[in-house]
Amino acid sequence: MAMDLTDIGIEEGQKYEGIYTTMSKDGVKNAAPIGIVCKGKDKLGCRLFVGTKTLKNIMETRKYVVNITFDPINFVNSTIGNLDIEEFTDDEDIAILKNAEAYVICEVTDIRKMDPIKDHITSNGEAYIISSDVVKIVKNNPCAKALNRGVFALLECLTNYTRLDLVSKEQQDYFIGRFNENNRMIKRVSGPDTIKAMEILKNSMIEKGFDVE
Ligand SMILES: Cc1cc2nc3c(=O)[nH]c(=O)nc-3n(C[C@H](O)[C@H](O)[C@H](O)COP(=O)(O)O)c2cc1C
Repeated sequence: MAMDLTDIGIEEGQKYEGIYTTMSKDGVKNAAPIGIVCKGKDKLGCRLFVGTKTLKNIMETRKYVVNITFDPINFVNSTIGNLDIEEFTDDEDIAILKNAEAYVICEVTDIRKMDPIKDHITSNGEAYIISSDVVKIVKNNPCAKALNRGVFALLECLTNYTRLDLVSKEQQDYFIGRFNENNRMIKRVSGPDTIKAMEILKNSMIEKGFDVE
């Protein structure tokens, strides 16, 4: 059957978040939240900073698994450290999360060093761009859909908006700052609907007299 990432809500050109699971060449399993870039119906990519175990493992094995999950505890534990071995399936040759809603097995086709990154986070972050083919998509939950953080940011902006008339000037300025930052992020990671929703919200804020970017 042809691979089709749209089956788990992953659309070309948009960015998602998942927990990547990898193995070192010595067979040690690792998990970390990493952004998912969709480059086609059966092509994924990501940007990995030097120093992450995920990058080291992918360089060693040229293979990784993107786990689609909403589990907050796995997200936090895999960010600040590694997950307990019980969180992985019993497979010996591949690292997969037991409670993933879906997972995607990827084989690396290209690893390319990026020019030093100068963005809003870092002035000299050293990173690599990983390109890969999707070789298998498994849905443990038939409704599995990848997380796009733009939707959550929109909801945060909307709740802040409903409080704008109730709070102090200082708190209003904080909400405007949050709006500007979320809008910048949404333009990078989300699809046209979320971008349009932010534009509608922005216009309403301008009508109310707020100075948004
Ligand atoms: C939602 C989320 C997305 C992330 N995306 C990336 C990413 O795209 N690239 C990256 O290098 N680090 C990313 N990180 C940071 C890594 O998860 C973090 O550095 C982690 O500790 C790396 O673990 P590792 O050393 O086990 O690979 C992200 C973190 C979070 C919480």
